[in-house]
Amino acid sequence: MARLKAAVLISGRGSNMVALLDSCADPAFPAEIVTVISNRPGAAGLARAEAAGIPTRVIDHRAHPGREDFEASLTAALEEVGAELVCLAGFMRLLTPGFVDRWAGRMVNIHPSLLPAFKGLHVHEQALAAGVRVTGCTVHYVTAEMDDGPIIAQAAVPVMPGDTPDALAARVLVAEHKAYPMALKLVAEGRARMGGGEVELDGTVWEQEVLLSPPR
Ligand code: GRF
Repeated sequence: MARLKAAVLISGRGSNMVALLDSCADPAFPAEIVTVISNRPGAAGLARAEAAGIPTRVIDHRAHPGREDFEASLTAALEEVGAELVCLAGFMRLLTPGFVDRWAGRMVNIHPSLLPAFKGLHVHEQALAAGVRVTGCTVHYVTAEMDDGPIIAQAAVPVMPGDTPDALAARVLVAEHKAYPMALKLVAEGRARMGGGEVELDGTVWEQEVLLSPPR
């Protein structure tokens, strides 16, 4: 069966991108990464993608007069490589409704919280301030609303006593690197689909019925 052609959009270090590349390195994985695009010329993830032999491209938003022009360049690059799915992985640009519409049901994002809790930036500070005992990450389809959209997969992570935002971020990142490839697999196999504003999931077996926070 043909593998789903996925493009990864990054702005920074690209550790989630590496997790996706690693999964796709297995020829039996149902998706392949056809390009990595960064809006920042210096993004560390670019070198990591190149080292993995993936074609990369910089589309610098500052070199474009406006958001639409920037997104037109993105679309051209994505179409050139025949991308069927766009995976946002630490991509730090807000996208216009026009671009989101064009990729509706074909663009996914990872966010380091259990959405709909803690949207936006400083997510781990928000989680610690709220005193939650469990946090995690979410892979979701992208809609015009930031950090919103139908949820494909989530992973839960305990908040430990004495956690700093950095310590919590590091623990959540480990979960992100598992959840994103899992979600990509679900999408690529056609088992997770966006329909009627939510995600329909086929053939998913839940092994754990309860994810319990650790006792203090
Ligand atoms: C991750 O925490 C991701 O959830 C968020 O931005 C961070 C990107 O990290 N959207 P990396 O570039 O994938 O290492």
